[in-house]
Amino acid sequence: MRTAILEVLKKNSGQYISGEDISHTLKVSRTAVWKHIRALKEDGYAIEAHPRLGYALRQNTDRLLPAEIKAQLTSTVLGREIHYFSELDSTNNEAKKLATNGCQEGTIVVAEAQATGRGRLARGWFSPHGKGIWLSVVLRPPFSPMEAAKCTLMAAVAVNRAINEVTGAGCGIKWPNDILWNGRKVVGILTEMSAEMDAINHIVIGMGINVNIDQQEFPSEIAATATSLAVAAGRQVSRVKLLTAILAELERVYTVVKNSGFASVLDDWKTQSITLGQQVDVHGIDRTFTGVAVDIDADGALLIKTSQGLERVLAGDVSIRPASCI
Ligand code: BTN
Repeated sequence: MRTAILEVLKKNSGQYISGEDISHTLKVSRTAVWKHIRALKEDGYAIEAHPRLGYALRQNTDRLLPAEIKAQLTSTVLGREIHYFSELDSTNNEAKKLATNGCQEGTIVVAEAQATGRGRLARGWFSPHGKGIWLSVVLRPPFSPMEAAKCTLMAAVAVNRAINEVTGAGCGIKWPNDILWNGRKVVGILTEMSAEMDAINHIVIGMGINVNIDQQEFPSEIAATATSLAVAAGRQVSRVKLLTAILAELERVYTVVKNSGFASVLDDWKTQSITLGQQVDVHGIDRTFTGVAVDIDADGALLIKTSQGLERVLAGDVSIRPASCI
């Protein structure tokens, strides 16, 4: 009923419609209409109530409500099932539980805020309320566990392309899966997997996208290295539009990979990379070294030309040296 009332308000495009007309059209009591309008206001819809004229929808909600996502969804598998929360510890934790309990492929978990959002390498992830897209997607890829790392590259390619299409910001990918604008991080991706020796049960691709965060809102520890798409684009960005664009692009790229393998994703990754050709510091699991990032190989490993020869990096962190330090 709430969705039906919202539809009536939306159809009236900002004009007043009386409670009586709504109740008559939808065959529901006026008290019920009033209660649903109150709930819609709590969901962030700006609805004006006039004692004689009735109700008018002044502004849509900016929340990532399933009904709003569904209204703009063009993907068919990703986002079929949406789990929405005002606050969670971590969307990846919730998605892993759902995946273990057998949820269908393409299930997504979104939260307005995360209390303990998780980043790579046991770091935290700043996830303020209503300002970003804190999203996890469950996939059940028919690949070997050895190929899971490339799913992260696939996600980075899809998210970067969707972001640039929607915002025009001109972001690029830093190996393996950070998305940067002007040297600062706007997106982080955390992929987690459950697998047997030879098959993946599921992977959860967690994406943290800084959308409408003002620069001064970032905590001091990351203020110099993080930024948001609103800062990059110079305007507020619709989270629903961006989220549905990401799902559409991820579904498209995932379909290509399932049909024809990872080769074209790796090519796209190279085209969108801001790491290749740069002098980098590599912080591996057990050592740190410096060199020039020259390529990624068929496994998605970064190839670094050092004074000792060519090094291959499959896991770790890479920082790009500012031009003045080269
Ligand atoms: C990184 O360290 O760069 C990865 C950050 C990933 C953050 C996202 S936010 C949604 C999902 N839930 C989490 O707890 N983490 C990921």
